[in-house]
Amino acid sequence: MILPIYLYGSQILRNENTEVDLQDKEGVLKLIEDMKETLKVADGCGLAAPQVGVNKRLVIVDGRELSDTYDYLKDFFRVMINPVVLEESEETCEYSEGCLSVPGIYAEVRRPSKIKVEYYNENFEKVVEEFDQFGCRMVQHELSHLEGNLFVDNLSPLRRKMLARKLQAISKGSVQTRYKSRK
Ligand code: NI
Repeated sequence: MILPIYLYGSQILRNENTEVDLQDKEGVLKLIEDMKETLKVADGCGLAAPQVGVNKRLVIVDGRELSDTYDYLKDFFRVMINPVVLEESEETCEYSEGCLSVPGIYAEVRRPSKIKVEYYNENFEKVVEEFDQFGCRMVQHELSHLEGNLFVDNLSPLRRKMLARKLQAISKGSVQTRYKSRK
């Protein structure tokens, strides 16, 4: 089932996200299927459960469409349930980010270059994995949704000011998206 994606300004994107109940396999798998379908139709490279109105700690990350730019992403697809960041590098880097919840806005964001994350995959197996390069960036972007953060929160005051009108338009619902969205 394709779910509507909540946009910047929605309280649901800022709520606390609770742990997924790993005993409820049927419910979790259904949510994963819905999120995969939603992400595919929206043509994005990642989606966090709160973006589809579910305040749970679950994200999917799909870099496969980006393999023209980043060859190493050609098989990069992850479902991450109850992810926990174990380590972050001191070294940081900048990449341009966008978000299905913040349509039409792209900005350079600085984050740690490498992270190590523990999570459960869609087979409910515990995984510890290190990420670097753009894969790391996609994972970090999605994980920050689970803390109620959006990439535009991290910008310099000047950059935020430049984007203020666009952001306001999104939060007022006066922006068209090519996918089903909700305020
Ligand atoms: Ni996002």
